[in-house]
Amino acid sequence: MLRTHTCGELTKKDADKEVTLCGWCQSKREHGGITFLDIRDRYGITQVVFGADLKNKEEIKNLRDQDVIKIIGKVKVKPEPNKKLKTGEIEIAVSELEVLNKSEEIPVDISDETTSGDESRLKYRFLDLRRPIMQERLTIRHKAALATREYLNSQDFLEIETPLLIRATPEGARDYVVPSRVHHGKFFSLPQSPQLYKQLLMVSGMDKYYQLARCLRDEDLRADRQPEFTQIDIERSFVDVDDIIETCEGMVKHIWKKAINVNIKTPFPRLKYHDAMDKYGSDKPDLRFGLEIMDVTDIAKKSDFGVFKNAECVKCINPDIEISRKESDKLTNIAKKSGAKGLVAIKVTEKGLDGSVIKFLKDPVQKELLKATKAKKGSTLLFIADEWRTTCEVLGDLRLEMGKKLGLIKEGEFKFIWVTDFPLFEFDKEANRWSPMHHIFSMPNEDCIKYLESDPGKVLGKLYDLALNGTELGGGSIRIHKKDIQEEVLKVIGMSYKQAEHRFGFLLNAFKYGAPPHGGIAFGLDRVCSLLCGFNDIREVIAFPKNKAAENPMDMCPSEIDTEQMEELHIKTVKPEK
Ligand code: AMO
Ligand code: AMP
Repeated sequence: MLRTHTCGELTKKDADKEVTLCGWCQSKREHGGITFLDIRDRYGITQVVFGADLKNKEEIKNLRDQDVIKIIGKVKVKPEPNKKLKTGEIEIAVSELEVLNKSEEIPVDISDETTSGDESRLKYRFLDLRRPIMQERLTIRHKAALATREYLNSQDFLEIETPLLIRATPEGARDYVVPSRVHHGKFFSLPQSPQLYKQLLMVSGMDKYYQLARCLRDEDLRADRQPEFTQIDIERSFVDVDDIIETCEGMVKHIWKKAINVNIKTPFPRLKYHDAMDKYGSDKPDLRFGLEIMDVTDIAKKSDFGVFKNAECVKCINPDIEISRKESDKLTNIAKKSGAKGLVAIKVTEKGLDGSVIKFLKDPVQKELLKATKAKKGSTLLFIADEWRTTCEVLGDLRLEMGKKLGLIKEGEFKFIWVTDFPLFEFDKEANRWSPMHHIFSMPNEDCIKYLESDPGKVLGKLYDLALNGTELGGGSIRIHKKDIQEEVLKVIGMSYKQAEHRFGFLLNAFKYGAPPHGGIAFGLDRVCSLLCGFNDIREVIAFPKNKAAENPMDMCPSEIDTEQMEELHIKTVKPEK
């Protein structure tokens, strides 16, 4: 080792020891011939002092931020400790300095409160990762991954790797593909998840599988989505919904304890999909605040306001504040962006209800509305009328908006919620057909199998998602392990068994040979880590993420490849017309 200690470990107890430290220079200060300097490594910062008697004055004078140095010196107790530093009780009186490497002036701000933009931070990620806060985030990620393995190993799970070069999986996004050199015109897909392989492992009798699996999806990016991400992927045999939920709760509890020393209370509450939508307008509700959505369809139907009378569903929220005209116009725009046709704001005043549509609401209707919503004077009710799902979703967005605006969200809180009993299918209006809500291997609830043919929209499935503070952490299902139910489900989405056999015949084939009942789940490890760190941008917990355009500004990928390589792969590119 080049050093005897790290920059984060010396204290009063080490007084008078001769030590050797290595690290990066920062914050050089000079006071009357004496030079003070902080040297930093992953473990912390130590102040070192170069006395006026040292010989290599020129070298000390030339030390710049981010130069890498080695010093030998004696630990001295400081008369006045610096309480902000772990090592603040001491400083090192340097006797020898060796400059291990000089640094050019760095092109990004690497203080914790960096002023550099996203793009430069990614371009110089290797420097951005020098920021103590980034090192802390990656440490939390490491601890979370370790705790995941610890817990699942303790429960007898086997960690099994599955291939990266595969045949397309039906996860719903676009595949990244890899051309085969040996087989002209043929391609591998990169896995969107190990879904089919983990099911095959159940057929193999592995019983309890997990993997920290890299997944690749070519989809539009958001703060909580990357083209390349990591799943905590889990599958078990001979289980039902409660068993998977129990495994996950134990695992999440262990992760939170080990990664950030927070005790999480289990079991987590559960909400059926329909109730989550009804009350919170979201299948990943943020339960850090109330502001629940109220259904007033029956009352609104009694009004003379066409929009209310003719709608399938009328619901409202009561943010419990007076909302000005200007403010309600802003909210109307937000509602419209979320898919609403408009927004009705009704104020509760001394004299009763007030607003442009009040003329259509007779007295008894107004009274009923007041009673049902328990709205007090000074509040404003916000109404949406539409199809059930749109009404719920729009008010869900308004609820989040108002929650943020009114400061109802308590930071530092972790509100987990299971959302269960999702519909198995959703109707894709554009394509005019049913598509699976999760994926085609999810088992319908027993009492819903009878609707598969007659009324697919009514079929609920053995599906479950775990949401935390308004983010979907993970989702999974009990799988179909029988051919007849699989065939019926495929029929609903308009896929024949033959087509299915063409795409994933290997799985259907495996199911012929004694497939056990099984089910599983996958968590987004990146999302778990970002929420552990208290925010919702997964790029901050990924060492080398892609930017919003799915590129890496550091190594500039994706990039062209040599003509020779293209020829070898028998590939030509065609410029798109636009
Ligand atoms: P699903 O597609 O719901 O399920 O993915 C599971 C979890 O993975 C995370 N996730 C992502 N994280 C970052 N960037 C992305 N682009 C991204 N996409 C998904 C989310 C999500 O909850 N095979 C099934 C699981 C199963 O049924 O067992 C699956 O992949 O946190
Ligand atoms: P209009 O009759 O379209 O002028 O709308 C009258 C009021 O009702 C306006 O405040 C609209 O924003 C609102 N409005 C229109 N459609 C809806 C709807 N589907 N849900 C809630 N409010 C609506």
